[in-house]
Amino acid sequence: MIIEKIELNYFRNYEHLSFEPHEGINLFFGKNGSGKTNLLEAIHYCALGKSHRVSQDAPVIFAGEKSGSCSVSVRGKWGKSEIGVRLQQGEARGKSVSIDRKKVTKLSEMMGVLRCVIFSPEDLNLIKEGPSDRRRFLDMMISQISRSYFVALQQYRLAMEQRNAILRNSRALQQAPDPMIEDFEASMADQAGVIYRERKRIISMMAERCGDIYQEICGKKDETFRVQYHSFLKKEENPAELMRMLRESRLDDQRQGLTSVGPHRDDLMLSLNTKSMKMFASQGQMRTAALALKLSQLHILTEISGESPVLLLDDVMSELDLQRRMNLLRDIGSIQTFITFSDEGDLDASQQYRTYAVHSAEGKADIEEIKSGPEMVRAMLTEPDFS
Ligand SMILES: Nc1ncnc2c1ncn2[C@@H]1O[C@H](COP(=O)(O)OP(=O)(O)O)[C@@H](O)[C@H]1O
Ligand SMILES: [Mg+2]
Repeated sequence: MIIEKIELNYFRNYEHLSFEPHEGINLFFGKNGSGKTNLLEAIHYCALGKSHRVSQDAPVIFAGEKSGSCSVSVRGKWGKSEIGVRLQQGEARGKSVSIDRKKVTKLSEMMGVLRCVIFSPEDLNLIKEGPSDRRRFLDMMISQISRSYFVALQQYRLAMEQRNAILRNSRALQQAPDPMIEDFEASMADQAGVIYRERKRIISMMAERCGDIYQEICGKKDETFRVQYHSFLKKEENPAELMRMLRESRLDDQRQGLTSVGPHRDDLMLSLNTKSMKMFASQGQMRTAALALKLSQLHILTEISGESPVLLLDDVMSELDLQRRMNLLRDIGSIQTFITFSDEGDLDASQQYRTYAVHSAEGKADIEEIKSGPEMVRAMLTEPDFS
């Protein structure tokens, strides 16, 4: 799919921006803090209704304004669509999403209209940090190809919040939990079935691809990277078993005021030559593994949906050595790509690019196409002011 137009109004440090990107590779150069990541974040908003870096919407609205918005016009194999996300704070606080200028009632309706994969330096957290980063990665990926998965996640979370509230309440009153807890547990078990099946399907696709991608990137045949699903269910159990597990853990859960079993505790187990990646791998191996996970995401989204997602590469080029940069750029070939740099970067001159400078003056960002080649880019990056 291709983004034909991006419009921002009071989004982060953009007051107004209307921008028609190239169908191929778009390169954005600019100093730190100029607004490069903000632009990619806006694209992410239009794909998933939220930021890839913060969980709240308020910080995204231009400082001092009550509302902000971003929209993209997308051309995919099913035709054209315009997706808009509007964020408001104050009394009318909230988020509204429109598709082709009609407000949608459920966030799930926007899933899959624009698909994107974002690479950023924080991808290393997928290896280094706890399970919640890996679950978020899985959830964002699967939601883009399965609306029923996204809906199941939402409903599972709602039912779990209700269950937790009942447990905390009964703890405070020193009483047995309200019998309504049964209904919430039944709902959790139903949704857990959908979540479990989809995760199992996608992780097995990922497992098939990640090992080869890893070896391709590092060029070493003796390093075996493996991905496995670590689920709340033991191998053969039925997701409906969650009902029994929840009932059995009620007393413990009441003490802790939370739910201790279920897909919200799932994880991806990552290993290198059968040893835990997090405990044993070097920094370089972790980077390669993170890149392999993201590239497998790109392959799987393309395979399942039958078209390439939009690719967002935020400041990752300087982390890869020249050879890897070239390989990555060659691989992405015909995918519409947005790449940000805070340095000039070494680029393969045979590729077709369009180059832009992102600059910000008095707290407001703007984007300008550069036609004069890399020397100009270098000059712009080292000069104190762009104006
Ligand atoms: N809500 C906001 N309103 C105005 N400016 C913002 C807002 N949020 C972030 N900024 C500004 O955006 C800049 C960071 O933009 P970012 O895209 O992350 O930079 P980079 O080009 O380094 O990727 C900072 O200067 C920050 O002050
Ligand atoms: Mg940035």
